[in-house]
Amino acid sequence: MPEAITAATRLCGIVLHPAGHTRSPAMHNAAFAAAGIDAAYIAFDIPPDDLPDAIAGVRTLGLAQIAVSIPHKEAVMKLIDDVDEEARRIGAVNTVTRREDKLVGSNTDWIGSNRALERETELAGKRAVVLGAGGAARAVVFGLIEKGAEVHVLNRTVDRAERLAQQLGAKAAGPIDELADLDHDILVNTTSVGLRSDESPVPATALREGSVVMDAVYDPETTRLLRDAADRGARPLGGKWMLIYQAAAQFETWTGVDAPIEVLEHAFDAAGR
Ligand code: ATR
Repeated sequence: MPEAITAATRLCGIVLHPAGHTRSPAMHNAAFAAAGIDAAYIAFDIPPDDLPDAIAGVRTLGLAQIAVSIPHKEAVMKLIDDVDEEARRIGAVNTVTRREDKLVGSNTDWIGSNRALERETELAGKRAVVLGAGGAARAVVFGLIEKGAEVHVLNRTVDRAERLAQQLGAKAAGPIDELADLDHDILVNTTSVGLRSDESPVPATALREGSVVMDAVYDPETTRLLRDAADRGARPLGGKWMLIYQAAAQFETWTGVDAPIEVLEHAFDAAGR
């Protein structure tokens, strides 16, 4: 956020419902300040029925960029002027950026997932398993395949996993208990198991020594899955990194400037205290 909001300050924000506790304003405002960008970022709690009016407001008020979160990532696609190729294939938009007088949708969740994983490993040629078949899974699977990884999708509801695998070009799909039989280098949990609970989606015995285990759940920051991974000699990677890197990609999409990752991390940590 700039020191003073003036007539020149550009406005960005996030639309989501319920607003709850989002760390996005803290992260983006810290990044704007660090990069000397005269912009402010706020959260808008928008129930589903109000999304069309909210997007009309984005147009009329001239907002520069809007992050789109749950439950609006699919519905927003029909309300904007253009959706880029990646977001169309994933089937979800998490970022709407003004380009002259047009609102253009993109998806940075897959970039966030890839950049987070790349802190620990290359992706090309790696064997990856993704747990879950919802919106988060679609972005993670898309990202892994873009980078040349081979992906197995495992989900409680197997036909959902099969559909996702077929649409995005994953190698195979199956039930979650198949993990124990699958040699893998990378495991990503995109299910909600572990969110504000001490459960893991998989038994610790199914985890492989040396593999990278990323949990999209970031509340709590160290989930049961990540603790089990560390105990088994795997390399745990917290969901906060996915969130930080997807925010970084949003920042870069609008500003054209490299995002200050340490600043985003610090703001993420401070907002959770
Ligand atoms: P998102 O868009 O955040 O990915 P979602 O579409 O609701 O959310 O998907 C939630 C995922 O968590 C799904 O893969 C869901 O499995 P189902 O497709 O079988 O519903 C998974 N999930 C939720 N609760 C679960 C549980 N108790 N055990 C296993 N998987 C669970």
